[in-house]
Amino acid sequence: MFMVFRASLLLLLSQACFAVDSHQLLGNDANELSQQSQFNLTITPDGKGLPVGKGSAAQGAKLFYQKCSSCHGPGAIGASAEPLVGEVGSLNSTYPEKTVNSYWPYATSLFDYIRRAMPINAPFSLTPDQVYSLSAYILSQDGIIPIDIELNEESLPKIIMPNRDGFISFYPDKN
Ligand code: HEC
Repeated sequence: MFMVFRASLLLLLSQACFAVDSHQLLGNDANELSQQSQFNLTITPDGKGLPVGKGSAAQGAKLFYQKCSSCHGPGAIGASAEPLVGEVGSLNSTYPEKTVNSYWPYATSLFDYIRRAMPINAPFSLTPDQVYSLSAYILSQDGIIPIDIELNEESLPKIIMPNRDGFISFYPDKN
């Protein structure tokens, strides 16, 4: 009994020592935390906010196999988690499939999403070079970019996604 108590006390203490702020209490000014670099991660369609880095589809293929295919399937065609590639041009068909490559309007969102959310069991664990490589791999699977080009903070925002013009504004007056 004492051992269990001592173990839980140690656990509590260690959590207190290493606690990192992850949110602010409601009603407080959000600026303080949201402006810190680890939380201020938004990347806009024109590439503002992209970190310096580079990566190729070949490097991304290896990383994908190691860190992503257990959920998204080999070649990113889907498994327990959704497919990320394929079905480009299917949105107007009887069986539309929203994959990253068929649906997402901006390649910069892919970088933003992977960096902050994936792998789902280890978010924020990838370096910028790894995220550029994984983005290159996913986009090249549908020929959106050639398989042999290097993606970096300059080239990624220039990519035209297939469904870029497929969205209409909910607030047309505010464009
Ligand atoms: C442990 C399982 C798991 C692993 C490993 C994983 N993912 Fe995911 N991924 C998910 C789940 C579940 C979702 C859906 C999350 C949601 O909709 O909120 C997702 C969603 C995504 C999406 C958005 C898809 C869409 O159309 O909305 C992308 C992009 C993505 N993952 C990329 C990756 C990459 C790249 C890796 C490897 C670095 C990776 N994932 C590893 C489970 C995983």
